[in-house]
Parts: sequence; structure tokens; C-alpha cells
Amino acid sequence: MAAQQPQPGGLILGIETSCDETAASVVRAGCDLLSNVVASQMETHAAFGGVVPELASREHLRRIVPVVRRAVADAGLTLADLDAVAVTEGPGLAGALLVGISYAKSLAYALGKPLIAVNHLEGHIHAVLMELRQQHTHVESPVLALVVSGGHTHLYLAREERGTWRYRNVGRTVDDAAGEAFDKVAKLLGLGYPGGPWLDALAPHGNPRAIHFATAQIKSKPHLPQTEDDGTQFFSFSGLKTAVLRHVEQHNMRPSIATRRHALEAIPHPTVTDILPLCDHPTLDLIAGFQHTVVESLMRGAFAAAARHNARAILVSGGVAANRELRARFTAEAATRAITVSFPSAALATDNAAMIAAAAWPKFLSGTHAADDLQATAQLRLG
Ligand code: KG4
Ligand code: ZN
Repeated sequence: MAAQQPQPGGLILGIETSCDETAASVVRAGCDLLSNVVASQMETHAAFGGVVPELASREHLRRIVPVVRRAVADAGLTLADLDAVAVTEGPGLAGALLVGISYAKSLAYALGKPLIAVNHLEGHIHAVLMELRQQHTHVESPVLALVVSGGHTHLYLAREERGTWRYRNVGRTVDDAAGEAFDKVAKLLGLGYPGGPWLDALAPHGNPRAIHFATAQIKSKPHLPQTEDDGTQFFSFSGLKTAVLRHVEQHNMRPSIATRRHALEAIPHPTVTDILPLCDHPTLDLIAGFQHTVVESLMRGAFAAAARHNARAILVSGGVAANRELRARFTAEAATRAITVSFPSAALATDNAAMIAAAAWPKFLSGTHAADDLQATAQLRLG
């Protein structure tokens, strides 16, 4: 049974290294954001069109110490002021996770403070919960959380019971994550990595109805074990990605894609203003149609699950939650159903450590500390 802990200032240092951001943040009592430092490795991986695990671990090793120091200094604190250290234990890249875990373990040990392990997906949900708390907005349990990023497309039914959050996985992708589909389609079209922000910026310049893509909605998978066929909402994005590829081939778009790729390679830090003139109408229509279809699929799945589980609040988090069409259409749909929908601010939508420190707060209160032999769990599940 977890014991109630003393909570002097509730100052928790969060550390996140699950993928390609080295991040540290200090959050007070799961609410007040005192600092938020994110060192992105985007430039390191961009040349490869995706995250290279070995490079990610090396970059985390290089940056973890200055990033943590900066987070503590930005918060106006010293390490001795902290009440706990929280770290992402998974899911993510094993080597990358290990850098954060090893560092957090040594720090907690040296300071004589508790170490708290946080699931990265739970962190994404708490990014939204923390900001709602800051706005004094109460959300009614259960909430339906859509975590949609480069590695994940999951639906969770989240419930707070006597200060502890519990999660049930009620939906997931059967193939690609939505963010992965954004990244792959952007790469196919000769755009940079990560692709989501580029497609987000370019889509409003195209006609989403010019090209029709089918929305894959898989209610249940016949080949899955019976126990899994329990009304779980399944998403699928690989068919859509293939449909975009087929469209590119059928409409002979390869030469214009190659021209665009070469032109962009010559620009050190391209902006949308640089990219837009390099995209013809058929390309912009393709982007708009693709994004519209992804958002449609996420929307159908999330609202169906909310209805099924009687959730009156939807929280959308993860990198793809930054998408403007997604935000606008979820908000409009929620208004017709008397459901609230909340998103993290842009800074907390993508990977960060504030969400880890925030998710650690209820665990700190209940004395749920990590074991001394905490390991990285690349495939860690939530719920
Ligand atoms: O949560 P996140 O930073 O890292 C993971 O845990 O994966 O999410 C990164 C993903 C990438 O696939 C990126 O392309 C996507 O989020 N993303 C977006 C947008 N901003 C980031 N996708 C669509 N629209 C955006 N504005
Ligand atoms: Zn993430």
C-alpha cells in the first residue's frame, strides 16, 4: 500500500528522452510550469528522413546534462530544492530511454530524492490535464484521450479515482501511427522531416475534396484473438499512404517531386513561403485530401469511442494534436454533441518533459516510487 508522502514544495523535475527530443522541465504540484527546456534533434535526423536510433542515443548523451541544468536554472532553483525526479520509462527507443533513466536514477540517488517512472503516453495525456488545471477547468471522469503522435495512435478511457489516474486502452492503430503517415507522405512528396507541420501548413492551399480517399474504419479485426474483439476502435493509415503513392504514380508526379526535393535541399532552413511556390495545384490538392482523410478517421474513431464509453470530455494530445485542421474540426464536432474537447498548447503537444513532471505528481502524492532497478521498457503499454 502506498504511503502518503510529505509534499514540501511539490517541485518535480521531469526528464524525457524517449525519442528525438532531450527535454527537462520543473513543474510545481502538477500545475505550475516553472521551466520547459526541449533540445530537438530534428536537424540531426532530417537528413535521414526519420529518427536514427543510434544517433538519438548519442545526442541525448551529449545534451542531457546542459538541458537539466538549464531547466533547474530557468525555474530559479538549485537541484537541492527539488522534491522528486521523474523520468520516462517507455515506450520509446530503448537506447534513448536508457540515457534519461540512467541520468535520472543517479540524480535522484545523489540528491536523496524519490525517483518516479512515467509512461510517455500517460505524459501526453497529462500535458492537457496540466493546462486545464492551470485554467481552473474541471474535466469530468471518464475522459476519452486520443494520443496521436509519430509512434502512437491510441484511445484511452482515463478515470481519476481518489487521486490516482487509471487508463483503459479502447482504441489503436493496426498499422501506421497517424504522425508516421504524415511523415511518410511528406517524404514521398519531397518535403522535409518531420512532415506533419509542412502538410499542416500546405493543406489550406489545396482543395480537400478534389481527390477522394476512402476512410478506413475497422470496427473489429476478424483475425485478432476474441479477447481483443471487445469493441476496441481500430484505426488504419497504411492503406491511405498506399493510395497517395498510387495517386503519385498514376498522375506521373515523380518528376515534379524530384524537382521540389532538389530545390529544397538547396535552402538551409526552408519556410512555407519557400515551399509553397514549389507545389503545384495537384500536389496541394493531394496534401489537402490526405490530411482531411486522416482527420476524418481520427474524428470518427474518437467520437464513436466517447459515445460508447459515455465520456463527456475528449483530450487530444501528441504531436499530431498540433494540427490546425484537426483542432478546428474536433472543436466544431464537439460543439454539436455537448462534449468538450481540449488540446495542449503547441509547445506541449510534441514531446516535452513538463508532461512527465505533471504525470508524476499524483504518483508523488501516493508515494508510488520507481524501483532501484528501473529499466527502459521500449514496448511499455498503458492500460
Ligand atoms: O509526440 P511527438 O513529438 O513524438 C512522438 O512521440 O512521436 O509527435 C511527433 C509527430 C510527427 O510524426 C510529426 O510529423 C507530427 O507529430 N506532427 C504533426 C504536426 N506537428 C507535429 N502532424 C500533423 N500536423 C502538425 N501540425
Ligand atoms: Zn510523444
